[in-house]
Amino acid sequence: MGALNEKVALVTGSSRGIGAAIANRFAREGARVAVHGRDATALSVVVGEIGKNGGTAISVTADITRFAEIEIMRGRVEKELGPIDILVANAGGSFTPPGPLEGITEEVWQASIDGNLTATFLTIKSILPGMKERKAGNIITISSAAARRPYPQSPIPYAAAKAGIQILTQVLAAQTGSYGVRANCIAPETILTERNDARIPDAQKKSLLDMHPIKRLGKPEDVASAALFLASEDAGWISGVILDVAGGSVMV
Ligand SMILES: NC(=O)c1ccc[n+]([C@@H]2O[C@H](COP(=O)([O-])OP(=O)(O)OC[C@H]3O[C@@H](n4cnc5c(N)ncnc54)[C@H](OP(=O)(O)O)[C@@H]3O)[C@@H](O)[C@H]2O)c1
Repeated sequence: MGALNEKVALVTGSSRGIGAAIANRFAREGARVAVHGRDATALSVVVGEIGKNGGTAISVTADITRFAEIEIMRGRVEKELGPIDILVANAGGSFTPPGPLEGITEEVWQASIDGNLTATFLTIKSILPGMKERKAGNIITISSAAARRPYPQSPIPYAAAKAGIQILTQVLAAQTGSYGVRANCIAPETILTERNDARIPDAQKKSLLDMHPIKRLGKPEDVASAALFLASEDAGWISGVILDVAGGSVMV
């Protein structure tokens, strides 16, 4: 028996990186998983991996900054897999390099807010009504260590958008507990996804490592394990938490 047997999960941004690890882990625990992204090739790789391991997955596409596209995606997931029990609103990212505030253009600011905070809001807005109606549901959002403590190297629009996701999640938890819906947020430190592994120079990896009491950098599977716990009945009385997956480098 897997921890998520009979559950339907939508993991946004699971065509690669952290989302792909979460989708894989959930499928291994028995969930039927909707793998989401925009890159058809990457999506088919993740769906193929899950199938090879004996799991069930479909791929869905949508620009999660557009509510109409999210609604169509929700319809497809419900039709092909059933009502969504678990939503991991993971899609997002940092769309600007670090730098002083006065150098940030309005366009770059807006892209980070849209691609993280607004995207999370729109995704939950689409999925939540069904959960409330069924009086059951589980929502996990993704913040970042960048929003847990001020760090001069953090991209400000990204940190601000992720901080918004945290309070959004907590107010949501306060509103939906009586409907049987839990909402929690995971805040990872730098995770060595394939993209980060290729992008971050060795010297920077070393200085990042020095910041961590646990002397290694995070892996996508570390976030997947945290998501599995929050999605499972083991966390049945946990709602409104911000869970730092950060090798001890964030303690608040
Ligand atoms: N990696 C880290 O170090 C780290 C640390 C803290 C927090 N996080 C957060 O964790 C989440 C996942 O990060 P990651 O590093 O795994 O990211 P990633 O490798 O860059 O993958 C991002 C995923 O989100 C999807 N996506 C992004 N914007 C989208 C949009 N507008 N519409 C539809 N899909 C969209 C991408 O789809 P396609 O590629 O298919 O287009 C992809 O599946 C993000 O929210 C990120 O901010 C990451």
